[in-house]
Amino acid sequence: MKATARAHTNIALVKYWGKKDLKLMLPQTDSLSLTLDRFYTTTKVEFDPTLKSDQIQIDGQIAKPKVAKRVSDFLTLVRERYQVSDFAHVTSINNVPMAAGLASSASAFAALAAAATWASGHHPTRQDLSRLARMGSGSATRSIFGGLVQWHAGVDDATSFAEPIEESVDFGLEMIAILIDTREKKVSSRGGMQHVVETSPYYPAWREVVKADMAKIKMAIAKHDVNEIGHIAQTNALRMHALNLAADPGFTYFNSQTLAAMATIDNLHECGVNCYYTMDAGPNVKVIYDQADRETIFNTLAAQFGADHLAVAKPGPGVEEL
Ligand code: PMV
Repeated sequence: MKATARAHTNIALVKYWGKKDLKLMLPQTDSLSLTLDRFYTTTKVEFDPTLKSDQIQIDGQIAKPKVAKRVSDFLTLVRERYQVSDFAHVTSINNVPMAAGLASSASAFAALAAAATWASGHHPTRQDLSRLARMGSGSATRSIFGGLVQWHAGVDDATSFAEPIEESVDFGLEMIAILIDTREKKVSSRGGMQHVVETSPYYPAWREVVKADMAKIKMAIAKHDVNEIGHIAQTNALRMHALNLAADPGFTYFNSQTLAAMATIDNLHECGVNCYYTMDAGPNVKVIYDQADRETIFNTLAAQFGADHLAVAKPGPGVEEL
């Protein structure tokens, strides 16, 4: 009754920002991401008949009550789905700066979904694992798969799952994460996105933006056009963040360093280097480019932010059993 799983984070190129069903965790729109090799979570789950409650350890420490409840609620879903009555030991190690917009919840819930399911003795399809991971965190739906992944919004539990568009991505697409601030963010993605759905007057336009961007980015992926992928991802990210500014009250995840990084990338782009940025629910900036330009971009960013604040990431694999 035990299993260990490793799942990698993903960064959305067409963002998920808002739910249409809070209980079933159904998103308002489809989304599309790249799973990264660099950031991942390794989680071991062991069901134990002698336990009186779940025992959860994250990065060597007993989980804080709020986190422990979220993990335990998720385990209860797994117990119901697979008829397990025991509580579990959960040991999780994150190779991701937590809660700073580097999607630690994506790799965490993908790894937990897989480890708990496998520990219960079941090996469902990855599509089923993806549906389960969705109940922990929306972005985790996509981290079950490697490479470029689409999450179909769906209309109910059965139809909302991720699917790989291209699992082994080998046409030069890469990212550099600029680690501007790895402290825990003030506005959670969960709180931020629902506030926007409820109060941002641009939300109807966002649904149309995503529809068009999904079609365009799938064409760009089919052509292996890194430039076009980056361009679509950057405009999509800016439009997502515009929703936040237009909410009531308005807010932003950007800080002055975020804006400085965006200006540097814009500048490089004007000088003929093909690079683009995307940001999530935190101040960190992820740069999208072709690996041929890595050195130029890395050196420019290292002069501004320090090489120790940069992480080069390549496309990564889907969830695996260790
Ligand atoms: O599922 P969550 O709560 O990690 O929200 C993810 C939200 C974004 O990272 C901003 C966008 C995305 O599609 O990953």
